Amino acid sequence: MQNVIKVPLFFDRHLHLREGDMLKTVLPCTINQHATGAVIMGNLKEPTSSVERTIAYWDEIMSHIPPGVDFKPTMAAYLTDQTTPEEIVRGVKEGVWQAVKLYMADQNGQGGTTGSAHGVKNLRGRNKVFEAMQKYHIPLLGHFEAVEKEVDEFDREIVSLNRDLIPLLRDFPELPIVFEHLTDGRVADFIAQSSHELYATVTAHHLIMNRNWMFNGGVWNEDGKYHGGMNPGHYCKPVPKREEHRLRVRKHVTSGNRRFGAGTDSAPHDETAKSHCYGCAAGIFTAPKAVELYTTVFDEDNALEHLGAFLSENFVNLYGRTISSKMMTLRRIPSTIPQKVGNVQVFMGGTELPWTLE
Ligand code: DOR
Ligand code: ZN
Repeated sequence: MQNVIKVPLFFDRHLHLREGDMLKTVLPCTINQHATGAVIMGNLKEPTSSVERTIAYWDEIMSHIPPGVDFKPTMAAYLTDQTTPEEIVRGVKEGVWQAVKLYMADQNGQGGTTGSAHGVKNLRGRNKVFEAMQKYHIPLLGHFEAVEKEVDEFDREIVSLNRDLIPLLRDFPELPIVFEHLTDGRVADFIAQSSHELYATVTAHHLIMNRNWMFNGGVWNEDGKYHGGMNPGHYCKPVPKREEHRLRVRKHVTSGNRRFGAGTDSAPHDETAKSHCYGCAAGIFTAPKAVELYTTVFDEDNALEHLGAFLSENFVNLYGRTISSKMMTLRRIPSTIPQKVGNVQVFMGGTELPWTLE
């Protein structure tokens, strides 16, 4: 039995840090996980749709990084219906953006998730942007979920794969694409077999929970008592799927397929925003223990030899990063997930994991 693992320092390919006090509260969690950087999502009140806005946000993040800490945010342009190819190319050439993030919204500006209202309503209206991205090899990070109310919540990814992604791959065969926070086993099979530059990020929470977790609680209160019932703490987008899908995604991930990489989608929301009876915010906060959660998954699948590549190596070059030459150490020593950081509940808070990141 392996009790010590050394892997290159972590790179989180999908992270929400927010702004202001929340940023100050949650950023240390990712830094403490020995991340050399992260792809920072720009779905803010004023999204990162212009070069100037992104520079201002980058400056805000950098102002909270302690001296001597080597953490470099990777910024993504937030694509809107107004984004021009010139703006994207300028932002990339100036070194501000390394990728373009695609959120989609319906015709009423109703997006599929938090902060997606400014997202793209007319995907193929952006063809000129995709052409430029293909030419300069700029990756598209796609939240591929159908947004129409009529589409079944649990089929949103497969509908978007067939309707949005497959035609994009056909028309822009050289465009690198990352399918963000993958949950659907059918999509996972498609990506695993693809001949395109197609990758997927996978969250720790989607590797661990199926859709039952949203409906049968699984909450342990501070008094140690179990509470059943609906649990908004397990609500995120995309929603967790059937067990069969979780296992299919997980099989590709822990078998060491290099098209799959860690992207936590750690998405902090204040407790009050999460525990609304109506309109509960989508998002799960895993940043404080993400590495240990992923390690537990690979360990359970007897696949620790593939952990380092998944966490820190696979397709990081796509974001203009190199694999860290520094290593971090995980030991088979139990550690407990904190209940809360600030006012944010941590996923599986209070649970003991078999691993500790040194
Ligand atoms: O659950 C989610 N929360 N999914 C997303 O795509 C966005 C995120 C957020 O920003 O809270
Ligand atoms: Zn996200």
